[in-house]
Amino acid sequence: MVFIDITSAFYLGHQERGVACMADEHLRAASHRAFAHRGFGYLAEQDRFLSARETPQFGFAVIGCGIMGQEHVRNTILEGRAEVVGLYDPAAQSLACAQKVATDMGAPVPRAYASVDELCADEQVDAVFICSPNHTHLQVLQQVSQVEKAIFVEKPIATDVADACAVVKLLEAHGRVVRIGLQYRYKAVYQEAIAEVFNRGAVGSVKSVAMVEHRFPFLDKVGQWNKFNKFTGGTLIEKCCHYFDLINLFAQSKPKRVFAIGSQAVNFRDFEYQGVPADGLDQAAVTIEYANGVLGSFNLSMFVPGSREELTVCGDGGRLSAAESAQFGEVTQNRVELWMGDRGVSRRVEPKYPAYIHNAGHHGSTFYEHVAFVDDMIKGKNSGPTPEDALWSILVGAAAQQSIASGRPVEVAALMD
Ligand SMILES: NC(=O)c1ccc[n+]([C@@H]2O[C@H](COP(=O)([O-])OP(=O)(O)OC[C@H]3O[C@@H](n4cnc5c(N)ncnc54)[C@H](O)[C@@H]3O)[C@@H](O)[C@H]2O)c1
Repeated sequence: MVFIDITSAFYLGHQERGVACMADEHLRAASHRAFAHRGFGYLAEQDRFLSARETPQFGFAVIGCGIMGQEHVRNTILEGRAEVVGLYDPAAQSLACAQKVATDMGAPVPRAYASVDELCADEQVDAVFICSPNHTHLQVLQQVSQVEKAIFVEKPIATDVADACAVVKLLEAHGRVVRIGLQYRYKAVYQEAIAEVFNRGAVGSVKSVAMVEHRFPFLDKVGQWNKFNKFTGGTLIEKCCHYFDLINLFAQSKPKRVFAIGSQAVNFRDFEYQGVPADGLDQAAVTIEYANGVLGSFNLSMFVPGSREELTVCGDGGRLSAAESAQFGEVTQNRVELWMGDRGVSRRVEPKYPAYIHNAGHHGSTFYEHVAFVDDMIKGKNSGPTPEDALWSILVGAAAQQSIASGRPVEVAALMD
């Protein structure tokens, strides 16, 4: 029951975002987002009502301005209750691109800091987003956690269990709001799945949770850090922590034992960067046993022409599948399908967010992650995903990587030692 209370925090909920949300200020904010880029630039400020920008309540700063840092700049501006006051990145090109994201959206140019220390000293900054590569998170956090600002850390919080525990300690001791970038919980299909499984009990008591991630290879990065286990922690930590977080969430329990097989079957087998060959795996099959008896499984293939992810939850009362997929060049298809037999209404729905939110990054999930983060800052509390959630997602990934290396099942408790 406690678990149900926790997970319902991730459900956007019609009761919260229905009629009450369409009060004047929300309607204006939504109208602004929907119409801001449709040629209203000629209007003077006094003629703006629906197209008037909200006055930001908070200042955000971003450390690491690559693909994800830029997505956070975009979503901060789109969400509207905060503004991006400054950026730090050792790569000038990343910094310039992130500034352009802001100015293209009609926001002021964020200041460029010369160092993390300078960023931390800026009194305009209320929250810091850490979006540098995985292996830098702990070091950056050691600096940022010294100051009284809310902290957002991208997933995975670290590249191994020891560093992840150190990150958790720092974040749990931090006196301000903290959040981890496990935003897949906010994807439209998983929001519907959470609502069905937890709020409506649609599948009854959950017995198994299976996930599939079939996608294109890892994209280019600054310094190609994502091709090397040393910088990522391994594919099953770097990318798949999102899916282990979802499996943990639906299992409503702690992972006990993990068995996995996997290999670098196709991608980057001839790729070298500065003389070092790439070593990340690109396919895996992972089995997870949970303390409450739920069976988890995860299947990864990273050499398909498009992307498809699918969650299947089976319970003693039904089956739910939630899928998001697009072949290269095609629009994303969302689908949630529920089989309830004679217990109730079986159905198939196509959950989705407005296109301007969907297109802002990760199918709209990053936007709702920002909504939740700003809500948390206003209320002064953490709604999660918490540092502990992040640690458990890494524990499954680390156990799976170790199981692949050893050919044996891995007890998760042993990793905690
Ligand atoms: N939540 C998600 O869905 C999601 C998606 C993609 C990436 N990520 C995570 O975001 C982080 C960044 O990934 P990315 O895809 O943007 O990579 P990227 O290579 O596109 O960008 C990383 C940026 O960080 C900068 N950088 C490197 N070392 C730094 C340091 N010590 N301090 C500050 N900046 C530094 C680089 O110059 C680069 O501009 C990673 O942890 C990654 O796993 C999360």
